[in-house]
Amino acid sequence: MALVFAGLCGHGPGFTGRAELADPEPRDALYAGFERLRLALEDAKPDALVVVAAEHFANFFMDNMPAFAIGMADSYEGPIEDPDWLKIEPTSVPGNKDLSRRIVSAVMQDVDVAYAEEWKFDHGIAVPLHFLTPRYDLPVVPANINCQGPPLPPLHRCWAFGEALRRVIDAVPERIALLGTGGISHWPATPDSGKINEAWDREFLERVLNHRRDELLAYTDEDVYRDAGQGGFEMRTYVAVAGATQGAEGELWFYEPIPVFAVGATIAAMNLG
Ligand SMILES: [Fe+2]
Repeated sequence: MALVFAGLCGHGPGFTGRAELADPEPRDALYAGFERLRLALEDAKPDALVVVAAEHFANFFMDNMPAFAIGMADSYEGPIEDPDWLKIEPTSVPGNKDLSRRIVSAVMQDVDVAYAEEWKFDHGIAVPLHFLTPRYDLPVVPANINCQGPPLPPLHRCWAFGEALRRVIDAVPERIALLGTGGISHWPATPDSGKINEAWDREFLERVLNHRRDELLAYTDEDVYRDAGQGGFEMRTYVAVAGATQGAEGELWFYEPIPVFAVGATIAAMNLG
């Protein structure tokens, strides 16, 4: 039927796992941003949520790493992380295999996409769902971009992936919500963890929210690695959503560097009109 919602958010495991260590003011403002996004998602009355997420070596590894992959199952287990660490209990999240199959088939017309009938969620999807669909009652179609193991898909292909997703979202009868989730500048699991390049983040978000395609595609992996760390490669998820929402007005609802969460925590939405 149509794209009825499009949002962007981070998925830092600290958002849930290290909540008590954060300064309450920005933490609670982040949570309020998630709550606003949850209400907007519910108001849109979607039949399914397509989540464009970043690989963390949870499902795919260097023996066989797809550039783009889409889950094609009727349910997904997760998160895989220790609940004592992530503070999210493992659960089963509904999928929609038939919808996934139609999305995969249509995206394949434009972008070579892998599919997987077995897919475990990690914090990259589980943290956003914890805040946005806390009852786990909205079917999810997980999509994945290799942001982890170079060579990474070029940014123009991530944009094209978003465009391909949008074409099929507009063609299926269901009401579809789209969420892109990634950290922007961050240096996870390195001695620099906790470092955040706020200026880089804000400039990148400006380009995303205003769909400045040429300026988005002008980033090189070398620039991103230098300025935004290896975690910054997750920018691809936002580039895909920008490609999927051309013409919409983007709005930044929350951005705040929260070092104990190791990212500039971000909540944004695309006003689809
Ligand atoms: Fe991540």
